[in-house]
Amino acid sequence: MPFKVAVVGATGNVGREMLSVLSEREFPASEVVALASSRSVGTSVSFGDATLKVRPLEHFDFRDTDICLMSAGANVSKEWSPKIADDGALVIDNSSAWRMDREVPLVVPEVNAHALEHGIKKGIIANPNCSTIQLVVALKPLHDFATIKRVVVSTYQSVSGTGKEAMDELFSQTRAVFVADPLEPKIYPKRIAFNVIPQGGGWLDSGYTTEEWKMMVETQKILDPDIQLTCTVVRVPVFIGHSESVNIEFEKPITAEKARNILREAPGVLVVDKREDGGYVTPVEAAGEDATYVSRIRKDPTVENGLNMWVVSDNLRKGAALNAVQIAECLINRKILKHAA
Ligand SMILES: NC(=O)c1ccc[n+]([C@@H]2O[C@H](COP(=O)([O-])OP(=O)(O)OC[C@H]3O[C@@H](n4cnc5c(N)ncnc54)[C@H](OP(=O)(O)O)[C@@H]3O)[C@@H](O)[C@H]2O)c1
Repeated sequence: MPFKVAVVGATGNVGREMLSVLSEREFPASEVVALASSRSVGTSVSFGDATLKVRPLEHFDFRDTDICLMSAGANVSKEWSPKIADDGALVIDNSSAWRMDREVPLVVPEVNAHALEHGIKKGIIANPNCSTIQLVVALKPLHDFATIKRVVVSTYQSVSGTGKEAMDELFSQTRAVFVADPLEPKIYPKRIAFNVIPQGGGWLDSGYTTEEWKMMVETQKILDPDIQLTCTVVRVPVFIGHSESVNIEFEKPITAEKARNILREAPGVLVVDKREDGGYVTPVEAAGEDATYVSRIRKDPTVENGLNMWVVSDNLRKGAALNAVQIAECLINRKILKHAA
């Protein structure tokens, strides 16, 4: 039975990708509605071969909507998700607003789809942070085999993770460097063109940034509260695709060969790991793809049971839109979703 789907934030990076993913996967939708702020009224967005007129969120009646894919930032979600859920639509939210709420499941279908079975008390399901999603997809099968003790991650995150204005900033700064125009950072605290910035989000008293904190606590909530994780988030001048250098310490022995074989069988993972020039995946190849790519799997000889690896994925797809649509598919397949109408 088809479902009525609303996409909030449909003009944004993630919202547009959600519409593409819904169309590509032939999601069983009776109707798809594109919503954004009143600023976007009069504009339209693509949905497969069709074009949808963008409607304002504030005037939309959700009472006959089944699923709301929410991608308009934490403030909009804090205000609107409870109201939309009260109207009877199940909300799958991409922002950080609800992720650490005990009554809100935080789900990556390949890792913890079972969290959907424990009840969706608030009518809201949270999509994790983009860097967390690709990390836990790669960690889960290794954790099942050898029990992860500790993880050290450094990220190389693309500007699309910050939103469409950040992509414009990288483009205009790159151009400005070439034509020797003055260059003024607006979205990021320092110039991003031909540079790297070791800051993701705001600051915590601990010295970590909010993006780093999200990865640490979300990994524990999704995968295992006993995993110790520390990370450094770095923004790089890449348009799409987040990369991660991941060092893992296990309780039990695991060789690089065994890890490679386990990951080859793991859902959502593609191993590209040839020990030759170019025998690994970079963000340019991952952009537009669904997989979480794992490369450079090798022993860390400085600890008893240690491995290093390189993990890359499209942050707008598996890191956001695809994961949200996969959650909606899980709700349908597990018969959790009931029609609102
Ligand atoms: N980009 C990623 O890799 C990624 C990954 C995971 C999660 N997320 C999260 O997903 C959300 C969206 O990210 P994004 O990258 O798509 O941002 P974006 O490109 O800046 O788009 C923001 C969207 O939100 C809409 N919006 C803003 N204020 C609104 C309001 N008051 N009412 C209704 N709609 C409003 C915007 O509509 P207008 O065009 O009308 O302003 C636009 O459609 C954020 O919470 C982000 O943290 C992003």
